[in-house]
This record gives sequence, C-alpha cells and structure tokens, in this order.
Amino acid sequence: LERLFVKRDDLTGFSLGGNKVRKLEYLIGDAMASGCDTVLALGGPKSNMCQTTAEAARVAGLACEVVLYGDPPQDVPVNLALIRTSGAHCHFTGDNRRSSVDDVATGRARQLARAGRSAYVIPRGGASAVGAVGYHDAVLELANQLVHARVDSATVFVGVGSGGTLAGLAAGATQSDVPLRLMGASVSRTVGEGAMQVERIAAECAALLDLKATPALTEIVDARGPGYGKASAEAATARDLGRASEAMILDPVYTAKTLAALTRLARQGLDGTVVFWHTGGIGAGIEWAVREAGV
Ligand SMILES: Cc1ncc(COP(=O)(O)O)c(C=O)c1O
Repeated sequence: LERLFVKRDDLTGFSLGGNKVRKLEYLIGDAMASGCDTVLALGGPKSNMCQTTAEAARVAGLACEVVLYGDPPQDVPVNLALIRTSGAHCHFTGDNRRSSVDDVATGRARQLARAGRSAYVIPRGGASAVGAVGYHDAVLELANQLVHARVDSATVFVGVGSGGTLAGLAAGATQSDVPLRLMGASVSRTVGEGAMQVERIAAECAALLDLKATPALTEIVDARGPGYGKASAEAATARDLGRASEAMILDPVYTAKTLAALTRLARQGLDGTVVFWHTGGIGAGIEWAVREAGV
C-alpha cells in the first residue's frame, strides 16, 4: 500500500461508539417521527446494535426492548450487561438460530399494539434503507477529509455483516469528489449473499433519498475464516498490529477479521491509498484482550 488511513468510527462519540451510532441517528429519528413509543432491537447476546440501540432509545426518551437469540448466557458479555443496565427489557428466543428473533419481535410488536403502544422494529444490524442513510452521509464526510489530505483516489475497506454500512457508502459514493473503490470484507455471509444484501439496501437507500445516480459498485471478499464469531490466528495478528501501531481495540467478530483481510490483499498487491473503516465492536474487543491476557 502507498498509504493507509483509518476512519475511526470506533470513536463516534456515543456509548461505545461504532457504526451503529450513525445508523441510529436516522433510525431513532424515524421511530420518533412515526410516533412510536418503543423501539425493538434484534440480535445476539453480544450484539453491538442492540447495545447501542438501548442507549439511544433511553436518551431519546423511548422505551426499548431487545429480542436476543438463544438462552441467557452464563458468562454475561459486556454488551448484554450494558443492555440490562440501560433499563431495556430483554427477551430470549430459546433458539440458537439468528433468524429466530424475527418472528418473536413481530409477535411482541403485535402484543404491544394490542396494549395501545406503538413499536418501531429495527431489523438485525440496523440493515434498512433508513439506517444506511447514516453511511450515505459518512462517505461524504470521508470524501471531504480526503480532499483536505490531497488524496485524489482511494480504496475504502469496511467489514460487512448485515450489509447496511457498505450499502450506505455505495449510495453516497456517487456524490464523492474523490473517486472511491468500495471493498467489503464479509464476516458472516458468503460473498454472493453479502453482495445481494448490499445491493438491495443500497438501491432502497438511493430510492429513499431520491438520488439520481445508481449506487456505486462494491467488491466483497470472504473474511469469515473459521466461521462467524470465531476468531482466527490471522485475526489475532491483525488485532495485535492495530493495538501496537495505533492503540486501536479490534474485535474478533468484525474489525480484526476485516483488517486481516486487508493485510492479505495488501500482500497480494492491493495498492494506492486505502481507508480502513474501523466500525467499533469495542465491548467484544476488550473482552478478547482480557481473555487473551488470562485475567
Ligand atoms: C463492530 C461492527 N463492525 C461491522 C459491522 C457490520 O456492519 P453491517 O451490519 O452494516 O454490515 C457490525 C454490525 O453488524 C459491527 O457491529
């Protein structure tokens, strides 16, 4: 690589930070504009989205309930501890499939409606056109920073889970003054599934914003390693590199795997200016460091 920048969205300035903050700016706004009194967030017991949603709902004066797959864990992850202490109510589906939260949330929203309440259901990962608007804005913020740094083109490299982050970048990139190549490292889905999801949300986001240009193309690489949520030796090396060079905390599920994939591509000849988008995951990153130290 010629030059590597890091876009520090682990430092977005709200709760533990991370990419969910930019999505929630619009999702919570939409919930309030729709007159909802309760936000339903969906995910796993370690979900960054559910954790940040619980905090954002509380700050906005909305009730929050989270629907988590599986059973209450013995060892309580940082994110679950924060959800519980935020005052949000937790429902566990008792089913380890990630998709089990969808039906339970729909049922709970109906139940709330019958009780005269009104729930805003945020899809897993905040992957919706509304959430992606946060990253439509973010890519324009980045483009400005690149102009100031006199960069004339760059590759943006970001982790892909539910796909909303990369989708928003794709929707916004067509308005960037600096030509951007958008690359995603998929940590949970196959490359094909990830691409479909990103394209769908990007198109919906562009339609929502009434953008004339079709979203920019994105390239996705497989960064799953041994599987979703399972750390790899490559990821641990990337984690140590981030910590030793910039004192960044990287997590085993998203950011370390994304940096590991970027390192691999750089060895294979990826060139020019690259922006590694740090998307957060600080709770899991700290847990990983603590476990590693055997504390
Ligand atoms: C820390 C972190 N990085 C990256 C992602 C991936 O973002 P997205 O779901 O928008 O693809 C997520 C959430 O899924 C996340 O929590």
